[in-house]
Amino acid sequence: MKKKTVFVCAECGYNTQKWLGQCPSCSQWNTLHEEIQEKTPAVHQDLVFQQEQPRHLSNISSENSPRYQIKMAELDRVLGGGLVQGSLTLIGGEPGIGKSTLLLQMMNHLSSQKLKVFYISAEESLNQLKLRADRLGASQKSLFVLSETNLERIMDQTQKMSPHVLVVDSIQTIFSSELESAPGTVAQIRHCAARLMYLAKKNNISTILVGHVTKEGSLAGPRVLEHLVDTVLYFDNDASLSFRILRATKNRFGSTHEIGIFEMSEVGLLEIHNASEFFLSERAQNQVAGTAVVASIEGTRPFLVEIQSLVSASHLASPRRTALGIDPTRVSLLLAVLQKAVGVEFSTQDVYVNVAGGLKIQERAVDLGIMLSALSSFRNAPLQHNICVIGEVGLTGELRPVRSIESRIQEATKLGFTKCLIPLKNMKKLKTTNKIEVLGVSHIREAVEILF
Ligand code: TYD
Ligand code: MG
Repeated sequence: MKKKTVFVCAECGYNTQKWLGQCPSCSQWNTLHEEIQEKTPAVHQDLVFQQEQPRHLSNISSENSPRYQIKMAELDRVLGGGLVQGSLTLIGGEPGIGKSTLLLQMMNHLSSQKLKVFYISAEESLNQLKLRADRLGASQKSLFVLSETNLERIMDQTQKMSPHVLVVDSIQTIFSSELESAPGTVAQIRHCAARLMYLAKKNNISTILVGHVTKEGSLAGPRVLEHLVDTVLYFDNDASLSFRILRATKNRFGSTHEIGIFEMSEVGLLEIHNASEFFLSERAQNQVAGTAVVASIEGTRPFLVEIQSLVSASHLASPRRTALGIDPTRVSLLLAVLQKAVGVEFSTQDVYVNVAGGLKIQERAVDLGIMLSALSSFRNAPLQHNICVIGEVGLTGELRPVRSIESRIQEATKLGFTKCLIPLKNMKKLKTTNKIEVLGVSHIREAVEILF
């Protein structure tokens, strides 16, 4: 007998009887694929685990959920202060980025605090796992491993062991025998994740699921998982550099602005606590035209980076504008403001702008740095080597205040900068410091007059 099939969207889990080119629910193209229709899995009934009575909101204590401190500062910060007990976390990233490495290191840290941790590898044999663990020096006694792909056996073993923390690497390679579809299909992923969530919440096991990202940049069946789990982390690198960035894109227990920076080495991932030093390490020792150092902030963490620009005469009817690590539209806009305010003719120039180190910056406090580096390249006049520039620039060329100015200036001071150019409006609340000279400017023209 032919099995009844449905078409399921890999992005959002929408299902329909007929194939469609575009998903009516999330509007993605070519995301629907055929799957055998399952009976409604029993899991949905037992997911209603506790019949809670309505309570007065004012009577509920607001104590933070208890957490396991991993004692890896970069990880703890991204998680919002440690791994929340009984929470479900999804960590995504391209194959080979270092997810298994990071998790094994994390598990080793947790087990060194006498926590019982259970690492399920559904991709690698125990031999491979052991080789990796040896390289990482992961040898704690309460770190248990299992190479298994069957969900029911995983659940069974987990219940027997009753660990504090469980890792399933990866959600795409495990399967439940209750479903007929293959591992990695939306139905399997959804079902397995739901079962594991049930296990996590019922037994208070902090559970981490690994998910591989597809080429389009989304986890296979990701949207379904993203709203199921408490926290979604992405492990990512910019260009083909050795450092990796961990960011939270969803966090029920913390902010999503924090980032963790790591570097891949022969002995696993090393935490990079001093990001500024790391990103400025390649900086030329003498003054070079076309560069400006800015102080940017991700979450609560300030770091200094160098913005590099190259402006050269163009032979093209519409000159080139290339921006790496910053929004190209923002760059075009800033060039137009600069042209109007300072009278530089950029329309005959090719302009390339790059954030050194391969970092991506979204915040506007780097506007001033972008403009000054472009002008510096155009005039072939280097900025002073020891100056850090901070400020958002508006359409009329006015400098707008930025948040957390104190910590940006502190970071610049720490790295040995002796001068800071900041928006005048930020000067008011600033506590005076004698280690660094702070200059407030109200317009880009003023900044140009001071620096060139
Ligand atoms: P891995 O953790 O297997 O990635 P993922 O689980 O995201 O697929 O990491 C893979 C890469 O990291 C692999 O190419 C080898 C490299 N690596 C190191 O450079 N040093 C190490 O100590 C380890 C364990 C891995
Ligand atoms: Mg892996």
